[in-house]
Amino acid sequence: MAVERTLSIIKPDATRRNLTGKINAKFEDGGLRIVAQKRVQLSQAQAESFYGVHRERGFFNDLVSFMISGPVVLQVLEGENAIARNREIMGATNPANAAEGTIRKEFAESIEANSVHGSDAPETAAQEIAYFFAGSEIVG
Ligand code: CMP
Repeated sequence: MAVERTLSIIKPDATRRNLTGKINAKFEDGGLRIVAQKRVQLSQAQAESFYGVHRERGFFNDLVSFMISGPVVLQVLEGENAIARNREIMGATNPANAAEGTIRKEFAESIEANSVHGSDAPETAAQEIAYFFAGSEIVG
């Protein structure tokens, strides 16, 4: 297995409820290391560009509004198979389908306010990490 890095975002529904520490514990207990982290307020342009692949979807405008409704925590997670591992730890996108013990099962409010984002493949992980972090901000 390869050591990978993946981009994680703790979303506004979770920062509003002060869940950053509980979510970080899920990542660390699940074998991932938080090798970069910053709390920011995304701009509309940043959120639209980050989720550009979803621009044609009916939920795009609501998703962008939600993602700028409060601070987010941007993170780089590192570990064996980190991209797939993080997706296991997060659980299904829709919390109604998420497995017991996952972040979305325990904390998500809805398919939109689903507490966390994680990259879905190596290429997107590299793009998403580079979108938010300079190499010098990531310390493994
Ligand atoms: P995320 O992993 O951040 O990627 C895109 C986001 O769009 C997704 O999580 C959800 O929060 C949000 N979203 C809202 N509605 C839907 C939907 N019907 N299907 C998929 N994603 C949705």
